Amino acid sequence: MLSHLKILTVTHKRTNLNEIGNFVIKSNNSEELKSRLEKLKQQFELDELLYVSTCNRVMYMFTTGRDIDSTFTSHFFQSVNSDLSLSTIEKIDEIVFSLEGEEAMEHLLDVAASIDSLVIGERQILGQMREAYELSRQWGLSGDLIRIIFQQAVQAAKSVYANTRIGDKPVSIVSLAIQKLLKSNLPKEARILLIGAGQTNALAAKFLAKHNYHNVVVFNRSLDKAQKIAKNLGGKALPLQDLSSYKDGFDAMIVCTGATEAIIQEDLYRSLLAGETDEKVVIDLAIPNNVAKDVVETFQINYIEIEGLRQLAKENLAFREQEIVKAKKLLVQFQQDMPSLIQQRKLELAMRQVPEAIKAVKSKALNEVFQKEVETLDDSTRELLERMLTYMEKKCIGIPMKAARELTLQQ
Ligand SMILES: NC(=O)c1ccc[n+]([C@@H]2O[C@H](COP(=O)([O-])OP(=O)(O)OC[C@H]3O[C@@H](n4cnc5c(N)ncnc54)[C@H](OP(=O)(O)O)[C@@H]3O)[C@@H](O)[C@H]2O)c1
Repeated sequence: MLSHLKILTVTHKRTNLNEIGNFVIKSNNSEELKSRLEKLKQQFELDELLYVSTCNRVMYMFTTGRDIDSTFTSHFFQSVNSDLSLSTIEKIDEIVFSLEGEEAMEHLLDVAASIDSLVIGERQILGQMREAYELSRQWGLSGDLIRIIFQQAVQAAKSVYANTRIGDKPVSIVSLAIQKLLKSNLPKEARILLIGAGQTNALAAKFLAKHNYHNVVVFNRSLDKAQKIAKNLGGKALPLQDLSSYKDGFDAMIVCTGATEAIIQEDLYRSLLAGETDEKVVIDLAIPNNVAKDVVETFQINYIEIEGLRQLAKENLAFREQEIVKAKKLLVQFQQDMPSLIQQRKLELAMRQVPEAIKAVKSKALNEVFQKEVETLDDSTRELLERMLTYMEKKCIGIPMKAARELTLQQ
């Protein structure tokens, strides 16, 4: 029954991303996670349980006939995290979304279709949900009802991705930067300098590899981080201080460090040019910018900097948001179909006994009720009788199945 579907979730919509960590199951490995989830399931008398944790949400989806109120929610999360502060428990209803039945289903569809995401249209969530579902299925935490509900959510999400433009335009700064780089028609063997080896440039490196740019030199203060990125790219790593003595020239550079002042000053840039005079692509993703203004003004540069990209990302996000209306319309149909899908499954399960029951009736008729009369029949008549009963048995099995199917369709 859909009314048994419950969701307790903490998302970016009501709390900051750090606080979400307080509602996540902390475990050192998958065995520990499995056993913590099993304990939760048992302790709170849940029939089925699916646990989804991403960087901007944690979701406990379960089925139970129990009522979910503030007391339940508080106990539940105290069990998830025994260190939960008293002040958090006091405002638990403000932090945790508690959803049931239709409302829970609607939320699940929104999440899968990425319209509840921090970055609307980010398909990654569907992959994360699939992984989470696969684990709970393998671990025996979820069963038939969650399977049907989850499959419907996947179908709905696929329909949204296929029939709207919700994920069309990139909204990540790095992916927009790489798009601009690609537009500059840089050849695949172009010499690229990657300055900084933090999260942002690590992501930029992934995009470079994806687009087959491997002639990359990564510079960073801590060499180990540069080496890690260079290894994945098939490039080279050097300490940041070697930048001033680097004489191999370049075609493009991506600069992104946490330095609070520009690190690419006029002298350094001139020395990096190593006498080359053609236009270079310079991508500066740092805030504040890592490339000095003088450099941009003095040299021939196709300069791509973060402010422009941020503006583009904003516009693209606004475009995606407009698609939510279309997505919602599609999701309504998937939501409306849900009760009859559940009903159909219940009937299928009930009907499983029908063939065995009819077989037993046939056997009883032949071997008990009409046994004496059957014994008086000659071989060919007995054979005909058995064939007729087998025919009837098969036909009888089909009748209730068909009726049940029609009944479900009418609902
Ligand atoms: N994260 C994002 O989503 C995002 C998006 C766009 C732009 N940004 C901007 O990108 C910059 C870096 O962000 P991130 O997320 O990549 O940071 P991160 O993961 O913390 O990495 C910081 C990087 O900057 C280097 N660094 C820090 N201070 C430095 C200094 N004084 N001189 C030279 N190198 C220094 C670090 O070197 P070590 O490894 O040696 O510490 C490391 O390579 C910031 O300006 C940020 O505002 C971030």
